[in-house]
Amino acid sequence: LALRAREALGRLTAVVPDFPSPGILFRDLTPVFSDAEAFHAVVDAISEPFAGTFDAVAGVEARGFLLAAAVAYATGTGVVTIRKAGKLPRAVYSESYDLEYGQAALEIHQSDLPAGARVLVLDDVLATGGTLAAACALLDRAGAAVVGCGVVLELGALGGRTALAGRTVHALEIVR
Ligand code: PRP
Repeated sequence: LALRAREALGRLTAVVPDFPSPGILFRDLTPVFSDAEAFHAVVDAISEPFAGTFDAVAGVEARGFLLAAAVAYATGTGVVTIRKAGKLPRAVYSESYDLEYGQAALEIHQSDLPAGARVLVLDDVLATGGTLAAACALLDRAGAAVVGCGVVLELGALGGRTALAGRTVHALEIVR
């Protein structure tokens, strides 16, 4: 499964120079998601290492939602949204994290998950790890058991694994 997904990623990922700012080489996964076979391969491969270990899948806004919903549907589990600040209507837990310039916050509803739910966390890209670290911290506070994090692409030079020390992390592809 992972091999098929990596082949699709190699073929379809669009590498865009100087986006969103000069000097940044942006890896755009939208052509992977819009190709039926590639999307299928990626969705199957991202959850495979965690098969049978989770009761729900958490997706991080925005692109993590695409993966989390598909994996939840395919595995007969529920899906939980981890959203940018101010989007969720009921009581939330909130975690701030550092961006390159400034800070952002992610939120989760306090009562979307039963206590002890085993949760797989998914996002498209692992860069500095700030986003997934905040997502995991939110799930901890919500009383869930994080079984691990899955991403399509890891930008290995940015140290995301360090930010996620102690967590299980699987990436379909790692680039420098
Ligand atoms: C991107 C990406 C991850 C995050 C990874 O999202 O989709 O969620 O950055 O970066 P990190 O590991 O350094 O925290 P972005 O913040 O661009 O938000 P978006 O998905 O809403 O566009």
